Formats: sequence, C-alpha cells, structure tokens
Amino acid sequence: MNTLLVGAQWGDEGKGKIVDVLTEQHDAVVRAQGGNNAGHTVWVGPRKYVLHLVPSGILRPDCLCLIGHGTVIDPLALAGEIKALHRRGINTKGRLFISDRAHLVMPYHRVLDLGREAAAKGKKIGTTGRGIGPTYNDKASRVGLRAGDLLDADHLTASIRARVKEVNVLAKHHGWDTVHSPRIIIDYCAAGRFLAPYITDTALKINTLTARGKKILFEGAQGTLLDIDCGTYPYVTSSNTTAAGLCTGSGLPPNRVDKIIGALKAYTSRVGEGPFPTEAPDLADLLHALGREFGATTGRPRRCGWLDAVLLRYAVAINGIDEFAITNLDGLDTLPVINIATAYRLRGKTLTAPPAAIEDLYACQPVYQTCEGWQSDTTKIRSFNQLPPNARAYLRALEQILGVNIKTISVGPRREQTFHT
Ligand code: IMP
Repeated sequence: MNTLLVGAQWGDEGKGKIVDVLTEQHDAVVRAQGGNNAGHTVWVGPRKYVLHLVPSGILRPDCLCLIGHGTVIDPLALAGEIKALHRRGINTKGRLFISDRAHLVMPYHRVLDLGREAAAKGKKIGTTGRGIGPTYNDKASRVGLRAGDLLDADHLTASIRARVKEVNVLAKHHGWDTVHSPRIIIDYCAAGRFLAPYITDTALKINTLTARGKKILFEGAQGTLLDIDCGTYPYVTSSNTTAAGLCTGSGLPPNRVDKIIGALKAYTSRVGEGPFPTEAPDLADLLHALGREFGATTGRPRRCGWLDAVLLRYAVAINGIDEFAITNLDGLDTLPVINIATAYRLRGKTLTAPPAAIEDLYACQPVYQTCEGWQSDTTKIRSFNQLPPNARAYLRALEQILGVNIKTISVGPRREQTFHT
C-alpha cells in the first residue's frame, strides 16, 4: 500500500503533522522533492520538532525514512538536523537513507539565490534564500554535485574547485559575494564523512520495500500551487510538488500508487510574493495575533486569506486527490462568517479554473459563498459528530464544492487533536 500526501495549496498545509499521524499505519516515509526550504512542524506530547529535510516519520521509532533523488540536500544543514535529533534521543542509524543521486546545495547556490532576489527589485519571488532554485538550475544544466560525490573526497575536492571557479566569474560579473573553495572543501568533506553511512540507492530500496509488501508514505513538500509546472509561475519553487513529482523524485513506479491524499488548510496562506486572489489582511491580522501563521523555516509572517475552491479543484484534478485531510480548522473558531471562493470574475467573465497568465490571476476577483461561523472552541473535539453544526456544515459544503471527501480533520498541532470521519 503506497500512499502519497500532497499539499493542495501554497504549502504549509500542516503536512508534517498529518504524516506523523499517518505514519502509525506505515513502515516507511519518503521525501522526494524540495530541500530545506520546507519546514514541517510536529508536536509529540510537550515536545516540538521542526524538520526540514528529514521525513517526519523519524519521530516514530519503527519507521524507516528515505530522502529520494528528487530532493536537493544541503549536507551541512542535513548533518545538523540529524545531530539535533540525536541530541533529543532519536536514533537515525539504520533508519535513515539518503539517495546517492540527490543534488547537493552548495554555498554558492545561496549566493546566487540571494543575489538574484536582490537584483530582481519589484519582481522578487520571495524565496526562502536556501539556494534551492540555483541547485535545481545546476541539476538541469548538468553541472551539479550529488550526494554520491560526498563519498569520494578527492573527486569532491576537484569538483568543488572547478565549479567554484566558474561560479565566481558569474558572481564577480554581478558584483555578488564570491565563495572560497578551501572552506567549502573542509566543510563538505566533514559532512560527507558524517553522512556516508546513510547514502545509498533509495529508489532500489523503495522497490525492495514495495516488493515485500511494506506500506510506504510519500511526504510531499511545499504545495501544488508552488509546483514549477502547474503552480503560479514564476512565483513557485523549483521542483514538482504534485503527486507525479513524488514518483519521479523517489523512483516509485506510477502503477504502484494506491492512494493520494491532499492536505488542505481550512483557510489559505502563502509566504513569499505572487498572486493570492482570496487574500484577506484582516484574517491574517487575526491569525498572527493568535500567534499562528509564521513560517517554520524563515519565521516570516504568512499571508492569509479565505479558502479558494478554484485553486483547490485544480489541485484535485492534477494530483488525482482521492481524499482530503483538513488542518487548522480551529483557526476559524472565532469567526462569525467564513468565505469560500467558488469562482473568479475576470474582465466580465466567470472562471472556474485558474488562468495560466500571472497578470490575469492578479486581476481575478473571487466570487464567494458565505458560511456561518461556529464561534466556539473546537480544539478539544475528538470526533466529527461532536463538531458544532456550522463546522460540520462548512466541511460538508467544501466536500460538495470539491467533489472529494474529507477523511481526516485536525483541530490543533498535537497528535491527539486529529480524528477521522
Ligand atoms: P524557494 O523554494 O526557496 O526557491 O522559494 C520559492 C517560493 O516557494 C517562495 O514563495 C517560498 O516562500 C515558497 N516556499 C518554499 N518552500 C516553502 C514551504 O515549505 N512552505 C511554503 N512556501 C514555501
């Protein structure tokens, strides 16, 4: 049984927590795209964990965790994350596997990321500054270094020297910081020695696990609307964040996918720049005042708005979502009225799917269906039938609009604040 979990919005749908809950029924969890631009927050009892590259399954002692070849890995950040887990008593030896084909994020990728953003002035993407775009750029240009290169110090040293030379020419041309290979070589060789026992062919491992009938959960990072092909381009990340991306990024054959779950927040948020038709600054103010909606990776306040069924229907279509897990329902607890955008108006026309041109999406006006709020605390509720009638009506309305059942509901950050319908 192989299950894919994808974000149905612009990321931060609470996937880390849903993965943590679903992991109870799985033998292994796989990350297949993105890098440490992702931030998955999981609470286990009183302890908070923020994971960036390591799959959230690491918090369940019996679960295997794999980081597939579609990811991009900052080896220093990953080594730091693993050491932090060890300090908190979590064992990773024999449980964590890193693809030898995953591309490495290098210090010069961060320089290029930040340099391009600074030069973009009014056209910034609002990236996380982690060097993700330039790393995927090098991968596509076939000049990248991969995790397997960490295993041979001489080869790694020569590759770093050659690439740094090229990149510094570009950096000097633009007036950006240059980087120095001796420091990078020392740091990356050390990280390579630390990570070596974890590096393997994860695609083959997934294949073997599948053949043995093991249950694997594939944990998407970011969300559908940040997908490099289907998202709100150019305000997207540089990988395929959709269900298909989990196959290409892990080596899971598409005919071995059994179920696709969409993670969805009860409202919408996005970090970084780009169009957001249902953006509602008042809702953002309310959520920020409650201490919610600050980025797990960068700490940036997230932009917030109403649920957008136009974008969600698109996410259902291109991912093939079989069921939804909804999170942060409790974020709406105090509101008297809740909106759901069911269509857009654009220059006198009604649209039920998002336009490709970014200028058109900026010009779209949402058409709202209004639901009555429930104005009561849902955080202690543990079953669908205990939810206030207006909360149930909101969820039922959503299911009708999206044509997909909501099977999992989350009313708080903790494991126990989750129930199934
Ligand atoms: P990058 O992935 O750092 O290149 O950033 C590109 C865009 O994706 C920016 O708008 C980021 O804010 C957004 N982004 C990247 N990772 C995440 C995430 O995990 N959650 C939400 N947004 C993200």
